[in-house]
Amino acid sequence: MFKKILLALLIVFVIIQLIRPAENISSAAMPRAITAVYPVSDSVQTILKKACYDCHSDNTRYPWYVNIQPVAWWMNDHVMQGRSHLNFSQFGTYKKTKQARKLGQVAKSVTEGWMPIGSYTWIHKDAILSKNESAAVATWANGLAAQIGKDTLSK
Ligand code: HEC
Repeated sequence: MFKKILLALLIVFVIIQLIRPAENISSAAMPRAITAVYPVSDSVQTILKKACYDCHSDNTRYPWYVNIQPVAWWMNDHVMQGRSHLNFSQFGTYKKTKQARKLGQVAKSVTEGWMPIGSYTWIHKDAILSKNESAAVATWANGLAAQIGKDTLSK
């Protein structure tokens, strides 16, 4: 009995290995990426890339264990959800008011510490932002949000 259950589980495990979500990787040019449409300093860009882009851009850096299911399903869920809320690679396609609002949330998320999400920083220790790093992102995001806000008012 025990052996049969074990065998059944093994078969299920082998079968689910074949069901993989498409990976979020693009080599297309991104003319509407935030770095293409707004000034982003190198230091802020480095922070966003290491701590946010895996879930908020068109390019996720996948770890080797994405090859073991159900890891990829779980990861894909975060990436799809993260991108649907905020995608830095497509930021220029948002309306100005939405851009300003999203940037305000970016500042808030790092200041209040709810981004990057805990299950991510648990593995990606380098994505745990230092006080200086969160401050740099928040200052940049708030500054840009204010600038975009002004631009929309003057139009
Ligand atoms: C492991 C994936 C992951 C990483 C890494 C990540 N996020 Fe998120 N983020 C999400 C998911 C999923 C959501 C949507 C669900 C939620 O609100 O919890 C989200 C939502 C957000 C929102 C809310 C947007 C809205 O309109 O509600 C902001 C702002 C945000 N993230 C900013 C950031 C910033 C800034 C970083 C890097 C410092 C970051 N995130 C890193 C997964 C991630």
